[in-house]
Amino acid sequence: MHDEIINGDSLSELPKLPAESVDLIFADPPYWMRTEGVLHRTEGTEFQGCNDSWDKFDSLSDYEDFTLRWLTECRRVLKPSGSIWVIGSMQCVYTIGAIMQRLGYWLINDVIWHKTNPTPNFTGSRLNNSHETLIWAVRDRRAKFTFHYKTAKALNSDSPGKQLGSVWHFPVCSGRERLKDSHGRKLHSTQKPLALLERIIAISSDIGDTVLDPFAGTMTTAAAAKKLGRRYIMIERDGDYCRHGRARVEAVSFADGEIARAGFDVKPLRVTMTEMIAAGYFTVGEKFFLSDGHEGGELLADGKLLHDGEILDIHTCAARAKNLRAKRVNGFDHWRVMRENHLVSIREIRENYRDSLKH
Ligand SMILES: C[S@@+](CC[C@H](N)C(=O)[O-])C[C@H]1O[C@@H](n2cnc3c(N)ncnc32)[C@H](O)[C@@H]1O
Repeated sequence: MHDEIINGDSLSELPKLPAESVDLIFADPPYWMRTEGVLHRTEGTEFQGCNDSWDKFDSLSDYEDFTLRWLTECRRVLKPSGSIWVIGSMQCVYTIGAIMQRLGYWLINDVIWHKTNPTPNFTGSRLNNSHETLIWAVRDRRAKFTFHYKTAKALNSDSPGKQLGSVWHFPVCSGRERLKDSHGRKLHSTQKPLALLERIIAISSDIGDTVLDPFAGTMTTAAAAKKLGRRYIMIERDGDYCRHGRARVEAVSFADGEIARAGFDVKPLRVTMTEMIAAGYFTVGEKFFLSDGHEGGELLADGKLLHDGEILDIHTCAARAKNLRAKRVNGFDHWRVMRENHLVSIREIRENYRDSLKH
């Protein structure tokens, strides 16, 4: 799969994509905001909200029909193991959520994006809208989807290292991150924060996966995907957005590391005692010691230990040698072997062996 920025209409471009070909979809569709007239800030200046032609629909059934069509195609192109994130505001998210469920999508979570710097409600006539909602779903109830739990914990900016919840705090995209047109005005009325997309892509896809965005705008999704080493297919109807977006993505480089590779979630390679004996990391007949220096077993060729005339695996033998009530404990926490007149943990030796396999 190649990286692609397609300047076209999703309703005609999505049907051209092969079935079950993408791993992750992020969709930021027109919200059908129904804003009319010009908004003014309290001090009188004009506020550029979302009053774009691409956000106009004639009626609710028109919007429902559009939503049904693109969501049907997204479900077709999503791999069985893939997942989809759709972002929306109160104007559209209930319609979108209902249609997703009707189509058979299974909801995993809904996430509140709390805007830490929301646009004020200029008239003071109602609450200030300070959030948007993201729906995270899979193709059907039985789908096994990617979720990097430990990466999500690492990205938890409220409580680093704690389980990530469903309320996320990010500022609205502004300053240098915001793309500008040739007059220095914001290029796009609804450019999403890069950090939001990075979090979504990092926790719900793998390096090398393909991410699709059918309403790509300024290519925020592509920028985040490229930064994290994912492939991307972007569809956007507006040629100007595509042009600026392309330049934006070209300037991004891959940021290799544990976030991109979900390194926190990688299970250590399983290795056996016999394998380590064969590789010369342990010697048949050598003594195993507890941390207090007491001898507790002699290593046999099958990786087990000879202890008081009995042959036991290293875990059972550790519990026995330490006179514990538990039948088994993790032998790698307890056993030491002699290396150059020092007791060395067998866990450390196992790590050395694992490292040797990486090279
Ligand atoms: C809410 S904006 C997406 C903004 C984007 N997430 C970003 O960060 O820049 C929706 C985009 O969808 C585009 N669009 C609307 N209808 C479309 C369609 N049928 N096919 C392709 N693009 C469409 C609009 O031009 C607009 O740029």
